[in-house]
Amino acid sequence: MKKTISLDVNGATYETAAEPQDTLLDVLRGNLRLTGTKKGCETGNCGACTVLFDGNAVDSCLILALEAEGHKIITIEGLADASKLHPLQQAFIKYGAIQCGYCTPGMLLSAKALLDRLPRANEEDIRKGLEGNLCRCTGYKQIVEAVEAVVRGEFK
Ligand code: FES
Ligand code: FES
Repeated sequence: MKKTISLDVNGATYETAAEPQDTLLDVLRGNLRLTGTKKGCETGNCGACTVLFDGNAVDSCLILALEAEGHKIITIEGLADASKLHPLQQAFIKYGAIQCGYCTPGMLLSAKALLDRLPRANEEDIRKGLEGNLCRCTGYKQIVEAVEAVVRGEFK
């Protein structure tokens, strides 16, 4: 039976109805129409569905929507501010770290969680921080280079 829940997403409060088995991924995409969060494997293996959950990068396909009440969720729609792209978004564009783009929202949010925790992350830290996010297109090199450029302060 559906239950009304209240979710804090990108600084706004959303009231919505969810079944006990609905994942946070399904509610973000289906109920809230925040379709930047991508659906891939639905088994916690690809990272396409990554969101920030109280600042930590998590797979939203592995979290029930009901469990997300009372937590701060940031999706890709909440990464940029009103006037400009986030430095990581600028860097991904400049360094060609995007091809089909399916992995990109999750990759960006995992990179943000990493740099919030480790602002001086080196290449090894970056590769480790992004190991839960699979990309079928880029070969990862440009993605790592983009994050390194943000660490160097190339983008504001
Ligand atoms: S869709 Fe969640 S990890 Fe792949
Ligand atoms: S850019 Fe296509 S999966 Fe990463």
